[in-house]
Amino acid sequence: MASIQQESKTEYIELVKELLSQRYPEKQPKAFVHTYGCQGNVADSERIKGMLKEMGYVFTDTKEDSDFVLFNTCAVREHAEDRVYGNVGALKPIKSENRNMIVALCGCMMQQAHVAEKIKKSYPFVNLVFGTYAIDRFPFLLYRVLRGGKRVFDLEEREGVLAEGLPVYRDSDFKAWLPIMYGCNNFCTYCIVPYVRGRERSRKTEDVLAEAKEIVASGVKEITLLGQNVNSYGKKSEDGVNFPKLLRLINDIPGDFKIRFMTSHPKDCTKDLLDAMADCEKVARHLHLPFQSGSDRVLKAMNRGYTREKYLSLIEYARSVMPDISLTSDVIVGFPGETYEEFKETLSLIREVRFTSLFTFIYSPRKGTVAAEMPDPVPYAEKNRWFSQLLSAQEEVAAERCASSVGKTFRVLVEGETKEHNGMLTGRTDGNVNIDFPGPACLIGAYRDVRVTKAKNWILSGELAD
Ligand code: SAH
Ligand code: SF4
Ligand code: F3S
Repeated sequence: MASIQQESKTEYIELVKELLSQRYPEKQPKAFVHTYGCQGNVADSERIKGMLKEMGYVFTDTKEDSDFVLFNTCAVREHAEDRVYGNVGALKPIKSENRNMIVALCGCMMQQAHVAEKIKKSYPFVNLVFGTYAIDRFPFLLYRVLRGGKRVFDLEEREGVLAEGLPVYRDSDFKAWLPIMYGCNNFCTYCIVPYVRGRERSRKTEDVLAEAKEIVASGVKEITLLGQNVNSYGKKSEDGVNFPKLLRLINDIPGDFKIRFMTSHPKDCTKDLLDAMADCEKVARHLHLPFQSGSDRVLKAMNRGYTREKYLSLIEYARSVMPDISLTSDVIVGFPGETYEEFKETLSLIREVRFTSLFTFIYSPRKGTVAAEMPDPVPYAEKNRWFSQLLSAQEEVAAERCASSVGKTFRVLVEGETKEHNGMLTGRTDGNVNIDFPGPACLIGAYRDVRVTKAKNWILSGELAD
C-alpha cells in the first residue's frame, strides 16, 4: 500500500506541534476548515481535523482570526468549483492583513491537473495544495510548509491508498460518518468522481467493525456508512464479507443506534441487500437509490448499467419486504442529447415511485469525462424549464406524502434547534424526514416519539408524544 507508515504520520504530527509551539509561544493556533461536496469529503475533513487537533490547533468559525485555513473542495459540478474559486479569492485581502496565515486547499477539485495549475498561477498566496490520495501525508506536507516557507503541491496519484489509523475529530456527538470504501470504478459518463478519487478500494472488515464499535461506545446514535457505491463493498476481499454481510455484522453490535448508508448504486443493488435491510432492526427504513434518468436510452448513454424496468423492479421488491420504506434519489436533467420526450420519462418515473425527496441537478459538463464531448444541443434556458417541471412534480408528491403523515407518530433522532431559534427543535425520522416540534434543548441527541400535527407543503410539524 502506498501510504506512509503510521509511525511517520505520528512523528510528523509531533514535529508540526513543536514548530507551532515555537511560532505561537503565547497561544494555541486557530484553524478554520470548510468542507464542500459529499459526506465522503466531510469524513475526510474529520480526519484532517483529528490531525490538526493533535498538532495543537483549536477550531474557529471565522477565517479572519485563523492561523490556518483549509478548504476541502468538490469537483462534481461547475457551480461547486465556482464557489471555491470565489471563496479562495476572498482570502487574499485577509491574508494580506495576516501574513503568517497558512492557506491550504485539498479534495477532489485539486486532484484535477488544470485546477492545480490555475491555483499555482493565479493564487500565489495559497501555501499548500494536496489531492485526495495525500490525506495521510498531511502532517508531512504541513511540516514542509512550516519549515521551508515554500509552496507545497502534492497531487500524485497513488493507487490503493486507504487512510487508516488517523485520529478523527467528529463534528457531532450523536451522528457519525463511517467510510467503508473509497473511489469508484463505474465511470458514469457525466461524472468526475472516478478521475479524482481513483479506483474502488474497501476498508478491511475488521477496521470498519472496530471503528463502528468505538463509535457506538462513544454514545453515537446514528452511523452512516459511506462509499460512492457501497454495494460493491468487499468485492475483492478475502474474508468474503460483502455489503449485506457487513450490514448484518454492524447490526449485531449491541446498543441503541441506527445504521444508514449511502450511496447505493442500482446496478449492484441486490435482493440480498434488501433482505439484509429488512432483517436488521437497526438499519433505517430508508434507501437512497439514485436513478438519474427514467429513459433507457439516456441511462445507456450515461453508462449506468441498469434499465428503468430493473430499477422499478428493485423498488417493488424493496417495498414488498419493507412496506414502510422511504425512498430518495438523485436525478440529472439535461444530459447531453436528452430530448423532452426522454425527460418526460423521468417525470413519469418520479410520479410512479413517489419518492420521499429528491436531489435534482442540471447536467454540468466536467472536463475529461466522456459526456463532456457529446453534442449538447438543448439550450440551458430550456433545461432550466424542464428542471422547474421536475421540481413541481416532486413538490406535489412530497406534499401529498406529508399530508398523509398527519396524525402518525414517528420515532425521531432530535438533531438540534430550528434555525429560527424559536423554542422549536428539529428531528429526523427513520425514513429521513424532518419534523419540527416544541421541546427543550436537552433532548438534542436523543430519540423521542413525535406525533405529526400539521403538514405545510412538505414541512412537517408536531408535538412530543411521550
Ligand atoms: N456515487 C453516487 C453519486 C455521487 S455524485 C451514485 O452513483 O449514485 C452525487 C450526484 O451528483 C449524482 O448522483 C448525480 O446525480 C450528480 N452528478 C454527478 N455528476 C454530475 C454532473 N456532471 N452534472 C450534474 N449532476 C451530476
Ligand atoms: Fe459518479 Fe457513477 Fe461513480 Fe456515482 S457511480 S460516483 S455517479 S461514476
Ligand atoms: Fe464532490 Fe468529490 Fe464528493 S467530487 S461529490 S466531494 S467525491
